[in-house]
Amino acid sequence: MSLVHRDGGGALHIEDVALDAVARQFGTPCYVYSRAALTAAYDGYRQALAGRDALVCYAVKANSNLGILDVFARLGAGFDIVSGGELARVLAAGGDPARVVFSGVGKSRAEMRAALAAGILCFNVESAAELETLDDVAGSLGKRAPISLRVNPNVDPKTHPYISTGLKSAKFGIPFEEALPLYRRARDLPHLEIRGIDCHIGSQLLDPAPAAEAAAKILGLVDALAGEGIALSHIDVGGGMGIRYRDEAAPTASEYLAPLLAVLAGRKEKLLFEPGRSLVGNAGLLLTRVEVIKHGAEKNFAVVDAAMNDLARPALYEAWHDIVPVKKVGAGDTAAETRRYEIVGPICESGDFLGHGRELALASGDLLAILSAGAYGMAMSSNYNTRPRAAEVLVDGATTHLVRRREEVAQLFALESVLPRP
Ligand code: LLP
Repeated sequence: MSLVHRDGGGALHIEDVALDAVARQFGTPCYVYSRAALTAAYDGYRQALAGRDALVCYAVKANSNLGILDVFARLGAGFDIVSGGELARVLAAGGDPARVVFSGVGKSRAEMRAALAAGILCFNVESAAELETLDDVAGSLGKRAPISLRVNPNVDPKTHPYISTGLKSAKFGIPFEEALPLYRRARDLPHLEIRGIDCHIGSQLLDPAPAAEAAAKILGLVDALAGEGIALSHIDVGGGMGIRYRDEAAPTASEYLAPLLAVLAGRKEKLLFEPGRSLVGNAGLLLTRVEVIKHGAEKNFAVVDAAMNDLARPALYEAWHDIVPVKKVGAGDTAAETRRYEIVGPICESGDFLGHGRELALASGDLLAILSAGAYGMAMSSNYNTRPRAAEVLVDGATTHLVRRREEVAQLFALESVLPRP
């Protein structure tokens, strides 16, 4: 299902809402999400997991807007969080703490206390030191902390090095060989309760084979643990399913999960998943307006009002996002001719680009939609160059909900002060 479609007049829509109307009402740059697309992505997992005892824990880091969390909470999702801030968001959006897993290599004591107070499902523990600290924190609260060990299966996910996490060289997880002794240690610590096992090998995986291989390695550990009387109630295989940005042959949830489920067939443990990108990535776009057109001897530039602070992925990973005009192609008042454009933002860095070499007919004032921007878009945005962050709008049928107001400049330095005056 494509997120956008054109009406009879060629104008780009998301569900029943015209994007030029969104721009007029809420301004640009503006992230626009589709509730139907979010729901369809979640349903993909639900259908693939039908008949299995499974919980889909949406990885909040991909897009932590309360409106998005609300949609998933209403669908019955759990959440994978990596900070106390994300826990607060989940609770504010009405998420069920009993369905929350807490990942991350550097949880603070304060974050551990908050999660214990909320009553989360499980801490995914990533080091021996964290295990000891968590036992101590739980003891000081008179509680037992539910835990999984995040095991690093040393499997190559064959994805971008910045988003691959399951290799031995990564900072993530507990080395495979150290997992068994550490489970024994966890069993002996008085304020811990062993719940499960966890792994996550990377992101934007187009081939499910490495994930299935990791699951198989993890199962070996589960059985070894059972042999020692340590019974687990769940197996968490992380997130990572890739999506289509350009022309990738991205798997459906059923296709991606099939080899994993085959490996996990007949297991009595509950299965947990932590998808982020595949639930939100293709459910959102970034709407931006062309400010300035510059035709040069070597390159043509379209300077738009969105920038690397709004969508960092192109600058950070050289990631590709399709960029399409909002009005009908060729319907410009200026009848601009098609040229190859560098689509860039107004930030003072050459790395500030959103797309290279795009064939478009553009004039100043035109609206563009930067697609597949629902994941790691707004969530990774910043205020670089004192740029207020974009508004966020959630479309539901013919209705638009403003789920985040555009920031105002005064808010950006409200926490700062000048030095005292004599
Ligand atoms: N679980 C853990 C422990 C993770 O570290 C991640 C993502 C996920 C789940 C969700 O993975 P997903 O289903 O979204 O692939 N900023 C990068 C992606 C970073 C992913 C970090 N970890 C990007 O824009 O491509």
